[in-house]
Amino acid sequence: MTDLTTRYLGLYLKNPLVAASSGYTGSLEHLKELEKNGIGAIVLKSIFEEEIINDYHQRLNADDRFGSNIEFLDYYDYDLKEESLNDYIQLIKDAKHELSVPIIASVNCVTSQEWTQFAVKLQDAGADALELNIFIMPTDTKKSGREIEDEYIKIAKKIKSSITIPVAIKMSPYFSNVSEMIQKLDKTGVSGLVLFNRSYNMDFNIKKMKVTASSNVFSNPEDYTLPLRWIAVNSNNVNCSLAASTGIHNGESFVKLLLAGATVVQIASTIYLNGPEYITSILSELEDWMREHKYLNVDQFRGKLSRDKVKNPAEFERVQFMKHFGNKEI
Ligand SMILES: Cc1cc2nc3c(=O)[nH]c(=O)nc-3n(C[C@H](O)[C@H](O)[C@H](O)COP(=O)(O)O)c2cc1C
Repeated sequence: MTDLTTRYLGLYLKNPLVAASSGYTGSLEHLKELEKNGIGAIVLKSIFEEEIINDYHQRLNADDRFGSNIEFLDYYDYDLKEESLNDYIQLIKDAKHELSVPIIASVNCVTSQEWTQFAVKLQDAGADALELNIFIMPTDTKKSGREIEDEYIKIAKKIKSSITIPVAIKMSPYFSNVSEMIQKLDKTGVSGLVLFNRSYNMDFNIKKMKVTASSNVFSNPEDYTLPLRWIAVNSNNVNCSLAASTGIHNGESFVKLLLAGATVVQIASTIYLNGPEYITSILSELEDWMREHKYLNVDQFRGKLSRDKVKNPAEFERVQFMKHFGNKEI
């Protein structure tokens, strides 16, 4: 009998497979499907910081009832944002009432302002943990890389001091020294890091000469090598949990990320592409592999191929094709 139980963000999970935040995890009906098919925990779809703020500004502009009366505006400000959050809070409450797997709320944010006061409401609604997806697009040429990094740390610290439930930061791989950033975020005392978020991409329509959204919404099954490298490099050097996200589409890449040292693996694209029933196949593949290799529980092999545990750690640093493929026809 294989034991898949895992501790993630201090929470008890029956297995290390987690549904990543996506539109799919935004309805109670889907959440029930995920639980029915054996998922270990669920990250709800994100509520967006910009969404709350834009919604607030739009409605404020459309309503001149209060003119410039500041006292009324203060009240109105609070009231409007509260309204924007109600649906999300209801989703958390319903999920906690109807499901038994851990429910992780998610906020997409770019600043440490505005929304942090509302994190308490997500906690009060019963969320078991909070995942913050932070992506600051570095389009401001006057801002240094260090300043942007400091903003991430500020957000992590601010949210940590605002709530008592565990906090995970979902970050991007686009830092000059991503390992340093992982270490710095770990030192803020967050309970987990999710490596990595996948940014929404823009595209051009050359017929209409327009900027469009990229149709490339889902990851590809070979994309898992990005989190694989950085989890393998960092898994022995952090105190917090590490969740792998991006490109894990099947049982094989699931096993690989655990061997790299991931505490859990998050999946989104494969749920969309193969349906929630595919969760049972992914879990069976893991169990079959564990039986074949005579592992009784996940801790027996987690991190076994991380950088600090392999004979030739130089493999993790190889970035150029020349040496490996230089003389081969591919
Ligand atoms: C349709 C769709 C919607 C998503 N929405 C969110 C979101 O609201 N918040 C978030 O943090 N990530 C969101 N993601 C990103 C996923 O959580 C995940 O990090 C990313 O898709 C990489 O994982 P995958 O390769 O398993 O898809 C979304 C992904 C997809 C495909």
